[in-house]
Amino acid sequence: MQNLKFLGTGSALPEKVLTNQDLERMVDTSDDWITGRTGIQERRIARDDVSTSDLAAKALSVACENAGMSPSDLDGIILGTSTTDTLFPSTACWVQERLGVRGMFAFDVSAGCSGFLYALEIASALMAAGRGRRFGVIGAEVMSKVVNWNDRGTCVLFGDGAGAAVIGPSDGDSGILASHWGANGSLAPCLYQPAGGTQRPATAVTVAENLHTVHMQGRHVFKHAVEAMASAALSAMDQAKLTADDIDLLIPHQANIRIMEATRQRCGVPSDRMFSVVAKYGNMSAATIPIAIHEAAQAGRLQDGSLLLTTAFGTGFTWAAHAIRW
Ligand code: ACO
Repeated sequence: MQNLKFLGTGSALPEKVLTNQDLERMVDTSDDWITGRTGIQERRIARDDVSTSDLAAKALSVACENAGMSPSDLDGIILGTSTTDTLFPSTACWVQERLGVRGMFAFDVSAGCSGFLYALEIASALMAAGRGRRFGVIGAEVMSKVVNWNDRGTCVLFGDGAGAAVIGPSDGDSGILASHWGANGSLAPCLYQPAGGTQRPATAVTVAENLHTVHMQGRHVFKHAVEAMASAALSAMDQAKLTADDIDLLIPHQANIRIMEATRQRCGVPSDRMFSVVAKYGNMSAATIPIAIHEAAQAGRLQDGSLLLTTAFGTGFTWAAHAIRW
């Protein structure tokens, strides 16, 4: 076990709310369809002049404030995102620029919706190896800028936001009790943004064909998400010798309520112990888990000693889970 503590958490959400009723006026959909299939009622949308690093920097500065420290005190910044500010440099470097800090290492993790848990796994391993004491771990996305707003099958699902945590050493018994992570790259084309990278650099054709937006095989994603999130969570529980009764709070990746519910049932955790923000924010990819953790902590659902189970699944496909003593 790595003795570490969440010293502070934070979030940043755009002010603009896009409701299902708003979407009814944009594409051929209905509030009933979206709510019934996904549980999403509304989502936040960033202004045109707001990028992923703006939200990430804001979330990290709130987390630092809650930890009683300055961002300049961090030994490193690790940011999970699929919606980078620029192809290079990393969004984590833009976060440094936004916060006016420099010196500490900063890099992005590309693991889709599993990005925050991948970043947490790396930060905890660095801490265990003695390669730093306090790390800013962020999940941030501006999905609205990579969504095809004419595709009803995807545009209703996503939202924008950022969540962050400062983790540091613990002298108590808090920490990551067990974790599990993995990937299956053979299923990469099930969920991806086809153009803009070296496989298909941006051209007038790629823009005309909408290849810079989310392409997804929804049913495939659904099936694999439930299987992978549940088995990753059960593996973390098993390694930590925990049963469902021990879990105080389950925070699964918040893609849609049906995936979350199916995961919860397979893990055997009662419904009142699952924390959900999906109705009000939609799927914010890597940002969903840290935002939910922040809101759960603010609501008093995570107390010293609480057992938190997190699990995620995303493009790649990737998956990750952590059993955490708060
Ligand atoms: N409004 C109304 N009808 C719609 C909409 C919409 N927004 N979108 C699709 N439909 C229609 C389809 O055209 C289709 O119509 P047809 O039967 O006449 O052809 C019908 O609804 C059923 O479409 P399916 O895609 O088969 O619907 P499904 O029951 O699979 O639900 C959904 C779609 C919600 C996307 C589901 O597959 C899902 O949740 N998948 C997981 C996707 C996901 O969460 N991705 C996020 C990224 S990955 C992650 O975060 C884990």
